[in-house]
Amino acid sequence: MTTAFELLDGIDVVDPYPLWQSLLDGPPQVAPDGSFALVTSHAQCAELLRHPAMSSDHRNSDHFKNVRLPQLTAQDLESIEKREVFLFRDPPVHTRLRRLVSKAFTPRQVQQLLPFVEERTRELLDAAATRGRLELVSDLAYPLPVAVISELLGVPHEDHATFAGWSAVLAKGLDRLMSERTAEEMEENRVASDEFREYFEQLAEQRRAEPRDDLMSALVAAEEAGDRLSMDELTSTALLLLVAGHETTVSLIGNGMLALLRVPGLLGRVRSNPALAEGVIEEVLRLDPPVQMTMRTALADIDLPGGRLRAGGTAVLLLAAANRDEREFDGATTFDADRADAQHLSFSGGIHYCLGAPLARLEGRVVLAELARRLVEPRLEALEYRENRVLRGPSRLEVGFDALLE
Ligand code: HEM
Repeated sequence: MTTAFELLDGIDVVDPYPLWQSLLDGPPQVAPDGSFALVTSHAQCAELLRHPAMSSDHRNSDHFKNVRLPQLTAQDLESIEKREVFLFRDPPVHTRLRRLVSKAFTPRQVQQLLPFVEERTRELLDAAATRGRLELVSDLAYPLPVAVISELLGVPHEDHATFAGWSAVLAKGLDRLMSERTAEEMEENRVASDEFREYFEQLAEQRRAEPRDDLMSALVAAEEAGDRLSMDELTSTALLLLVAGHETTVSLIGNGMLALLRVPGLLGRVRSNPALAEGVIEEVLRLDPPVQMTMRTALADIDLPGGRLRAGGTAVLLLAAANRDEREFDGATTFDADRADAQHLSFSGGIHYCLGAPLARLEGRVVLAELARRLVEPRLEALEYRENRVLRGPSRLEVGFDALLE
């Protein structure tokens, strides 16, 4: 029986899929003492994501209570309580915070970002054409989502690069939630988070004085409407949007490019029919999900096929394995861009279903259609992966080409 930490340590970030497949094919795994479960089946993952007794707040876990809590001061605990992002909160706090952002982050606002996404994509690819080389991650996949989230929040363009730096550190923090963090890593995370908060408090003040048509102004208006959104909650929410929406979309774009390069005939099909980019993005999400797994804590004893998960125990839900479950998907490991309405779990499920899914899909399909249209004879020249195992994706992807069209 593997523990969560042993599991993370043993993962090959370049190709974790043989391991996921063996876990999916093997027996259900629940520790004999009920402290841990590893869930791979699609049906089970989908059910647990919607289960009211499965908490997203790690403070409910025995691991937190026994290992982390004794090391924390009262001040640390207060800060966690005030600043925790709503991804890691349960109802009713989660419900209140999510509702406020959902109101500001509407489909209309996402759709309004389309011209911005198209223009930035074009500019970034033009710059690569001028240079005569394309390192997809730093030239396109990294700068695009951060520019889009910054635009959405109303962050000035000159600050986008600073943003990218914070995002890299804070996203690593998300991965580290699942294993022990070193003192240096915690410090690095704290500094980035403090700088980010300070920046956002200033931006919030500016928007309070002079509201604009951006998400930050909408969040400030919610904050002003009473005690519904405190300044800490406001900055945590902005931080969540940046972190949850950045590295994940970087991976989607990188993995999408890899699919265009690797799946026979795919590039030509997208070139002649750009609308197919939508189906390609769904298959990339399913077979190569940017968020490989998530975690929940049981608030009550829960009976699973492999045994009983005790209250306080942790379940790791292997979304990347569930997406390859033959019981849910015909020919589960085959890339099929024409698969209709595949219920993959890459954006999670239940009350924490990804708020940014429409935006991520929009960015993904614009970029893939442009790459297919403009790249002549693209080929893979170098590929490296980030060390993050939860938010997995390429850190360097050199694409050679004969021409990068206008
Ligand atoms: C391909 C890109 C993306 C992927 C794969 C992805 C995946 C996910 C997943 C799996 C969760 C839920 C985790 C859990 O249940 O434990 C989530 C939550 C969330 N995502 Fe995304 N995400 C992406 C892009 C974005 C973008 C672009 C944004 C916003 C700008 C965003 C904002 C959020 C927020 C706010 C949550 C928290 C929702 C809640 O707790 O209620 N995501 N995302």
